[in-house]
Amino acid sequence: MTASIGQVAWQWRERWRATTIRALLVVAALACAAPGRVHAAGQAIGIVPPLAAAAPATQSSGLQVLHWWTSTSERKAADLLAARLKSEGIEWQDAAIPGGAGIGAGKVLKGRVVAGDAPEVTQIIGVSVAEWAEMGLLLELDSVAVADDWNGVLFPTVQDLIHYRKHTMAAPLGIHRVNTLYYNRALFARHGLAPPRNWNEFEAVARRLLAVGVEPLAHSSEPWQVATLFENLVLAGGGPDFYRELFVRRSPAAAFDARTARALQHLRSVKGWSRAPLAERSWTEVARQFARGQAAMMITGDWAKAELGGLGMTLDRDYGCTGAPGSDRYHLYSVDTLSMFAGDYRHRQAQEKMARLLLSPAVQAEFNLLKGGVPVRRDADPARMDSCARASWNTFAKGAGVQAPSLVHRMATDEATRDAIIAEVHRFFLDDRAPVAVAQRRLAALFRLFNITSQGTPGAQDTDRGR
Ligand code: BGC
Repeated sequence: MTASIGQVAWQWRERWRATTIRALLVVAALACAAPGRVHAAGQAIGIVPPLAAAAPATQSSGLQVLHWWTSTSERKAADLLAARLKSEGIEWQDAAIPGGAGIGAGKVLKGRVVAGDAPEVTQIIGVSVAEWAEMGLLLELDSVAVADDWNGVLFPTVQDLIHYRKHTMAAPLGIHRVNTLYYNRALFARHGLAPPRNWNEFEAVARRLLAVGVEPLAHSSEPWQVATLFENLVLAGGGPDFYRELFVRRSPAAAFDARTARALQHLRSVKGWSRAPLAERSWTEVARQFARGQAAMMITGDWAKAELGGLGMTLDRDYGCTGAPGSDRYHLYSVDTLSMFAGDYRHRQAQEKMARLLLSPAVQAEFNLLKGGVPVRRDADPARMDSCARASWNTFAKGAGVQAPSLVHRMATDEATRDAIIAEVHRFFLDDRAPVAVAQRRLAALFRLFNITSQGTPGAQDTDRGR
């Protein structure tokens, strides 16, 4: 009981911290009578200079880009963007912050903005785009979007993610599939196994592997990676509608539902398959374990596919890729997007040029090949993709009915709620004695709390088109 109260207090504090910055900026925006709407909020609290005073004679062509692409393959993909930008006369000034799923980058970004040191370009994804847009600090990319017909070429779900109050607030780069199962073909062949298509088969395969001394699943106890497994299990057991009920609408009834109980039980079973105590390892270390053949399977986003290539593994020869057990029909997505801080508009030309470049068919194809995801454009050619990407693209193209927004990757809900859910799932995962029913109660309590405090949270609304 004491822990539960402490937990709730902690949630409040976290929530308070997150909303303080937003409230500060919103209040400032309302109070500000400056002509540039986008510029106004930051200006009012002194984090950007007044338009008139700062308007420079020349446009700057160097852009600082804050992002969390720091693994070998992610670096290559970012370097490609830097090279393409360079040929357009724009210098990419790198501000990479390590930490899978942008855990570190999100914190650094907040700190930098409050300190008046916002980068010109930043990786902000999912509901966070609307959260930042609401503060009035982001550059509207409407002119580029209209000129290049983004509405005509983008998937509807992607359009939703980059829009805030009908303005385009981010340039989308690629779509990742978070429900990806990787399996080691040699190990599967040696032990006469087929890739599992549902929970029962998954469990049976794990038992067979354990019996012959093979670690079934490469995994980590890092909170976001544990929650990745959990969201996969929820989607597999409940389908996209139930998934949204739990993570987007955050319905307390869904938290008490038998499908949530089952997903928690399955999460505990998966933990039990691990032959050594699970360490908090980065996703790249997990990928290395899988690449060395020290585990037969891995479930994570398709960014790991790009990393496996660099580790000497070839898709369809050394390893297979399919939808995670029970979710092959669905697409658990994370869409990468870059937003621009308006600042004093000195970088506007370069920022718009960059946005245009990111959406070009050539950059979309090249970037996603290196990154492991698929283009955000509906006119991309699936015939030019590898088997894993093609399956992802074809599934995503089926529309909102099969899509589920990744909680972990900020696609389903605001940052504070996401952090609290991840912490709760992680807590359950670490404590083998924690009853499933208690975890459900705690999730339901969180939902009630956040559903009261997040009335009006930008971007967290549920739409018919995917979120
Ligand atoms: C991003 C990916 C990135 C992954 C691992 C996700 O949130 O969408 O681009 O590779 O995190 O850090």
